[in-house]
Amino acid sequence: MAAQAVFHDEGERLGRDELAALQLKRLRATLHRAYACVPFYRQAFEKAGVHPDDCRSLADLSLFPLTGKADLRDQYPFGMFAVPRSEVRRIHASSGTTGRPTVVGYTEGDLSTWSDVVARSIRAAGGRPGQIVHVAYGYGLFTGGLGAHYGAERLGCTVVPASGGMTDRQVRLIQDFRPEVIMVTPSYMLTLLDEMERQGIDPRTTSLRTGIFGAEPWTEEMRREIEERLGMDAVDIYGLSEVIGPGVAQECVETKDGLHIWEDHFYPEVVDPLTGAVLPEGELGELVFTSLTKEAMPVIRYRTRDLTRLLPGTARPAFRRMEKITGRSDDMIILRGVNLYPTQIEEILLRTPGLAPHFQLRLGREGRMDTLTVRVEARRGADPSRREAAAAEVVQAVKAGIGVSVRVEVVDPETLERSVGKIKRLVDPRTPTRPPAPPAGS
Ligand code: DLL
Repeated sequence: MAAQAVFHDEGERLGRDELAALQLKRLRATLHRAYACVPFYRQAFEKAGVHPDDCRSLADLSLFPLTGKADLRDQYPFGMFAVPRSEVRRIHASSGTTGRPTVVGYTEGDLSTWSDVVARSIRAAGGRPGQIVHVAYGYGLFTGGLGAHYGAERLGCTVVPASGGMTDRQVRLIQDFRPEVIMVTPSYMLTLLDEMERQGIDPRTTSLRTGIFGAEPWTEEMRREIEERLGMDAVDIYGLSEVIGPGVAQECVETKDGLHIWEDHFYPEVVDPLTGAVLPEGELGELVFTSLTKEAMPVIRYRTRDLTRLLPGTARPAFRRMEKITGRSDDMIILRGVNLYPTQIEEILLRTPGLAPHFQLRLGREGRMDTLTVRVEARRGADPSRREAAAAEVVQAVKAGIGVSVRVEVVDPETLERSVGKIKRLVDPRTPTRPPAPPAGS
């Protein structure tokens, strides 16, 4: 019988100085490759008056222009590729809720790099070779399912490719196959938890010990909820298709203090979302990535629209961390001049006794006034006569913590729509409906 290949990971053992030298070498190669092979980047560099040779230090990256989602869409479908199409082994695409989808491509080498960073992520989360990994991220054009799948195989795990949906069957598979690890969006984990309880299964008696949750923002309060109900470690995984997919950054189980960015492959910057100026470590702004090893589709200073700050490494000292994401600039709600994110509401709801973690935000307009209604489910078994008091507590906490008045409706358990992939928290009937798009993450 062939001995099982052990997953070797040189990158994870680098010291900070070695890492910086490797980053500069890879950055320069990437800039040259983008300039030589992708007309879009050549034109953008020329317009900005920069040449790849101008990059002599990592800080020089700030001389180069930022790239946005619209730039990628303009090159639809294959204009951003730096290799002949015949060398592209896989295509993924983002859902395109605002128009054309964004297409991304991978060479064989890219698929291998991706497997490596996801394998590293699963190990940092506490997963080990030989364990069973239940993957309930959607398989398909979304990067979640296949990205998690190949990473788990690379680490030497047994993968159950469950994908999203058919929730009752997922619970049966978990009962029968006894996976130690689950990879799924946190909102779909809640759906699975409810289904376990509906079937009379105590979630704490399942085999699950490690949950690797991402693809959407979630809070410390949600971590506590999931960890307590399941008796497991819940850690955060981050990524985006334009950069590679899941596995760009990962929270380590021993510290659970934000996500270590796998900086030997993805170079992070945080910029002021309005001016684009690079912000110092520790300041909140928009996360920007430059790929350092991608072949098919290098990205130079790609604006993620995700808001976070960079922090020094802890469990993996050479790699910087990013704070758990508060939200995307696109998710920001401006209510009568006050900015707020769904995660801020989530924190408050989960701290309020009697309320379930299922909620929806609904914008409306009364006269000239914008209104926000928070619809939240009562927790199963909670005293119905406490609903009004719970609603009043939330109204007060939002007013005190965020500075704006909202309405709160506590509805019956199991009345709000459940997530099977990425959850959509905000309903905004004030804006005209967009053309239908395939659901993301399912
Ligand atoms: O969501 C990749 C992924 C799959 C990551 C599975 C983690 C797990 P996209 O569909 O391109 O790719 O969406 C990327 O999702 O810019 C963030 O806004 C959001 N996102 C991803 N991970 C997190 C996270 C995948 N851990 C977009 N926390 C990103 C908060 C996240 N938001």
